[in-house]
Amino acid sequence: MCGVTDALAEPQIRIDDHLNGTESDGLAEEVREGLSRPLKELPPKLFYDDRGSRLFDRITHLPEYYPTRSERQILNRRAPEIVEASGAEELVDLGSGFASKTRALLYAMAGAGSLRRYVPVDVSQLVVERCAEELCEVYPGLRVHGLIGDFQRDLRHIPDGRRRMIAFLGGTIGNLHPEERGRFFRAVRELMSGDDTLLLGTDLVKDVEELEAAYNDSEGLTADFNRNALRVLNRELGANFPVERFEHVAFFNEARAWIEMRLRSLDDRVVHLDGAGIRVELDAGEDIRTEISAKFTPEAVARDLERSGLRVDRFWTDDDDRFGLSLASPA
Ligand code: AVJ
Repeated sequence: MCGVTDALAEPQIRIDDHLNGTESDGLAEEVREGLSRPLKELPPKLFYDDRGSRLFDRITHLPEYYPTRSERQILNRRAPEIVEASGAEELVDLGSGFASKTRALLYAMAGAGSLRRYVPVDVSQLVVERCAEELCEVYPGLRVHGLIGDFQRDLRHIPDGRRRMIAFLGGTIGNLHPEERGRFFRAVRELMSGDDTLLLGTDLVKDVEELEAAYNDSEGLTADFNRNALRVLNRELGANFPVERFEHVAFFNEARAWIEMRLRSLDDRVVHLDGAGIRVELDAGEDIRTEISAKFTPEAVARDLERSGLRVDRFWTDDDDRFGLSLASPA
């Protein structure tokens, strides 16, 4: 069981909630802002209610959707090397989910005898709690300090520590627009001390056909996942989007090197978002952009990190060079 205390009487599990209901105001403002742009836009976090999270999990098992498998291959194969190169004693896991991928890192840290603390950060309370309990059973003596919060907004709540490896996996960095990405890297750099490292997962540029297939799967799961953003708006902001009257569109924007997902209105329509106090006019054929998913070259990752005061020490890819993991430290 958990709850055992160490010599300093620190509890083995501590969970801080930095969301407690503050979300919906912020969401309404974000949605108002996004839908008032010339190309209407919605934040990708709208995908991830319980239904959307389950859909994403199914997407990661699709034959077309390679990123999760490719990243897992790197982690499973290289975890001991990553742990050694980082010198990490603590793992901070941004957007941890059920820690299914970071388990390889925890296992390697435990094997190296250096695993002291695990800090999962996720918006889902259920995920953070379940993960904390399970992991401290698997690794007796491990301290878990969970944070329920948003990886962009709540970075400052990450507990002080030494030899922390901050893992931001899954390629989620690709969802941020370039300016937001720069802000995020600088914020991470700010909280790092000299012996901390950043482990960053990035999807890599490759053939357009392969990229586009990953976001246009034949089962239509990605289309359903995309439309889920509208279902969430209908529920959370009292909107009246007729979900089935929006078509899933996903393509690689070569100039920006990112996949764009959009929802195309099949009709001229006025949608009300009562909870956000707005109405939105859409023309037939007009798109709402719901996600960008940036693809990188190894050089582009290094350049971005360097601009924010971080230096890439190591870079690993899978056998087919589909996905990259960078280990970076303060420059
Ligand atoms: C979880 C953000 C990495 O961008 O590929 C999957 C989400 N979108 N299919 C990605 C996603 C469409 C995914 N990330």
